This record gives sequence, structure tokens and C-alpha cells, in this order.
Amino acid sequence: MPTDNPSPEPQSICKPITSSAIFIVATLVPGIERTSQVLAWCADIAALTRSVGKRVPAGNLSCVCGFGSEAWDTLFGAPRPASLHGFREFGPESRLAVATPGDILLHIRAEQMDLCFELATQLLAALGEAVVVVDEVQGFRYFDMRSIIGFVDGTENPVDRKAIEFTIVGNEDPAFAGGSYVLVQKYLHNMTAWNALSVEGQERIIGRTKLSDIELDDSVKPTSSHSALTTITKDGQEVKILRDNMPFGRPGAGEFGTYFIGFARSPDPLEQMLENMFVGRPAGNYDRLLDFSTAVTGGLFFAPSSDLLEELADRQP
Ligand code: HEM
Repeated sequence: MPTDNPSPEPQSICKPITSSAIFIVATLVPGIERTSQVLAWCADIAALTRSVGKRVPAGNLSCVCGFGSEAWDTLFGAPRPASLHGFREFGPESRLAVATPGDILLHIRAEQMDLCFELATQLLAALGEAVVVVDEVQGFRYFDMRSIIGFVDGTENPVDRKAIEFTIVGNEDPAFAGGSYVLVQKYLHNMTAWNALSVEGQERIIGRTKLSDIELDDSVKPTSSHSALTTITKDGQEVKILRDNMPFGRPGAGEFGTYFIGFARSPDPLEQMLENMFVGRPAGNYDRLLDFSTAVTGGLFFAPSSDLLEELADRQP
């Protein structure tokens, strides 16, 4: 029996990590006709995902679509998600979490790249001339869930009920319940310099052992380690985010990267972690991973619930 007031269904956010992903960031092309085209497209995303995904049921194809702050106003007007704003930059010039243009984010995931590729093709074809793609990254699983820098990535992610609790908007913003805030950054690593470090040196930077992925004991874990700086608390409770990072790269071009994607119920924890990493906690005690990694993009988006995503198609731009 259906319930009277079912809570809105989130997009595919709290799903297990897949083997392949495509990340697309696009900007809107101005004009009322193009805006209308994007609105109509909002109602087509789920059907296109079903059509492509049905062809390989075991492929676990999914798509999360998010909108940037300015794009929200242009496309949908009021009401708007309570905490949506532009990406806030952190850090000094030499180590900056940079903000880059982006109105629409597509996070396409599957066990096979062909599924991601086909869905990206269909979704972009439906958008046609209404957007310009400004960044497109194909990510892959690297061995046993390792990031390209060789450490297992995603271990401390919340799962099941905790994942929902930490990522999905609830009664604090009822009109946008079922949605989630998404922060993305594309990082490029200096692998020559990183690989020149000893394994112990790398482990002190991450705060975990490399082979066995065990957290270093607090007595030896530096306060500047990545895991220390990204562990945050509010009112005495730890606040987590959900990460779905993917390695990417082109060895022939000397490119080795991490596409960072983090989901949270508010931008606050995501921004607090960025501040700790780039500015330092306290200031100056920054994340040494950034001596080997440069953020080349940065965007903050809101991914509405699946139900709202379809309804948005009826808004007047
Ligand atoms: C250069 C890009 C990055 C790389 C290669 C990277 C890699 C890693 C690795 C290897 C771990 C340890 C295993 C795990 O628990 O997942 C980790 C933990 C974590 N990272 Fe990152 N990360 C990156 C950027 C970021 C950013 C930008 C944030 C937040 C804005 C972040 C937030 C976290 C959190 C919350 C943890 C878990 C900490 C804990 O509870 O122990 N990471 N990351």
C-alpha cells in the first residue's frame, strides 16, 4: 500500500561505488528557448537512464544531476535550496581551491564505461545547443579501490542509514527534502614528486597505511594529515560526507588525476574540510597532499530529489 505522504526519492547518491564514471560540467547558453529546452530535459533524465540501463541490468547505471547557484535562479527561480551558493574559494594563491564556471553537473556511474558513455551521449544530445560542456572526465576503478596516488580511497565513507543521514536534506528545508549538495574538484597530481617520497612519508601525509589501509595511531598521525584535517565535528559529533572519487588520467600526456566528488546535507562540512585542507587547522597547518596535488576546477551544485527534478520541468524560467 502506498503511504499518503512518501518522502521524496533522492537521486542515486547513496549507491555503492562503481567501476566507471563520467563527470560532466556544462554551462548554460543564454536565451529563453534554450532555457526551456533544459527545463524539458529535466523530465527526460530518468527515462533516458532507464532506457540505456535496461540494456545491461547488471551494469548498475545511474545518473545524478545537479545545478549551480546562478543556474538555479535562471532556470527555476524561487523557491531555491536554502544553502545553495557559488563555490567558495579557500587558501593562498599558491595553493588555491579554485572556483571555475559550471551550471549543470552530471555524475554518471556504471560497472561498464560503455553504459556511462552511451548515457552521456544521449543526455548531451537531448540538451543540444542549450549548453556548452566545459569539463568532461572519464574515471576508472584503479585496482582495489585505490586513488591514483596508490592509497585506498573511500574507506571512511558512511554507509546505509548513516549515508542518507549525512547526505540527504530533510526537514531543515522541506521544499528541498530528498536533495543533496555536491562539491566537485578536479585534481592533477605531480606523481614524480609523490613517488619520490618514502612510503612512510606518504602514509604520514594521508594518515593511513598504504598497503593495508589502516588508520595511523593518533600518537604518530600528524595533525596535518589528510585524514586528520578532513575529520570534523559539530556539537561534539563527527560530521561525515559521502565521497565517490575516481582516478583518471592520460599517461602519455603525463596527466594523473583524482576527480573529487563529495555529497553532504549542507555545504558546511564540505567547505569546512576544504578550509582545513587549503588554509590549515590552525592556519598554516595545511594538507601536505596539496604540495603534490593542484585543484584545477571547483564547483558547488544542488542535486534535487528525483521527484523534484521531474517537477522542475514545469517551472517558468
Ligand atoms: C587530491 C584529492 C584527494 C585525494 C587523492 C583523496 C584521497 C583520500 C584518501 C586516500 C583517504 C583515506 C581513505 C578514506 O577514508 O577514504 C581520504 C579520506 C578522506 N578524504 Fe580525501 N582525498 C582528496 C580530496 C579530498 C577533499 C577535497 C575532501 C573534502 C572536501 C576530502 C575528504 C575526505 C574525508 C572526509 C576522508 C575521510 C577522513 C576520515 O574519516 O578518516 N578528500 N581521502
